[in-house]
Amino acid sequence: MQLIDGNAIANEIVSELSKKVDELGSKKPCITFIRVGEDPASVSYVRKKERIAANIGIQSRLLVLPQSISQSNLIKEIDILNKDNDVHGILVQAPLPSHMDERIVFNRVSSLKDVDGFNAVNLGKICQELDDAFASCTPAGILQLIERSKIDLSGKHVVILGRSLIVGKPMGLLCLRKAIPGNATVTFCHSRTENLSDLTKQADVLICAIGKPHFVTAKMVREGAVVIDVGINRIADQYKKSGFRLVGDVDFDEVADKTSMITPVPGGVGPMTVAMLMSNTIKAYEAAVQSK
Ligand code: GUN
Repeated sequence: MQLIDGNAIANEIVSELSKKVDELGSKKPCITFIRVGEDPASVSYVRKKERIAANIGIQSRLLVLPQSISQSNLIKEIDILNKDNDVHGILVQAPLPSHMDERIVFNRVSSLKDVDGFNAVNLGKICQELDDAFASCTPAGILQLIERSKIDLSGKHVVILGRSLIVGKPMGLLCLRKAIPGNATVTFCHSRTENLSDLTKQADVLICAIGKPHFVTAKMVREGAVVIDVGINRIADQYKKSGFRLVGDVDFDEVADKTSMITPVPGGVGPMTVAMLMSNTIKAYEAAVQSK
């Protein structure tokens, strides 16, 4: 079994991106983060994104709005940023307050600045296999893990556990593309799938994004499969200062020995998401410069 080291691969990408930004000269890409409210996890995620942007040389701005803001006022703020030529990427941190419809908000971000890839236009562009699409960062990061670990997807059976708009669906579309990595046969499974382990056992590559701690057990995995664990679940742990620890969707201890390659949690898929966000921001900047 080989461990896929997401920290090392993300660091490699971050240093490639730093070099690229260095070569851009004095004008730099700029991403604006919008955070609504003070959700502690969102505060910490946005801080991490700001820190990595700064390391690469990408400028960032942070707009903090009150939890009570109306959806229409949030949309007004997005419209201002959509028109601002100095802003190349816009990220609205999820989750949004329950009085909002996230899909409407994400779709309001200009598709040319949608570096999260959450917007319907970019999902459609992924479907059409257009090069200017912004792919959702977690699936794009997984594709990088696959490519840089020299895993050949062509003709292979990729089984995706989870059908979210942000991970499951775009992941399947990316694996299906007539591209490298791509050309896979893709099966989507979810919470209502019958005889789930009959399907997961057929996977050459099993991508687990179901959001349930230790859901995938050894009997669900074929000997020699590649297992990618997207789950970031908090479970209580009295021995940790924080009172919890992070575990994936895969029961790593019992599954790992059966696999040819597996991602750990933490340190697998997680670090890749921010790296791909930065990559998308540079791509948005380059497209904006070229269209001038
Ligand atoms: N909340 C948790 N992860 C993400 C992410 O990747 N993007 C956004 N916008 N919100 C998130």
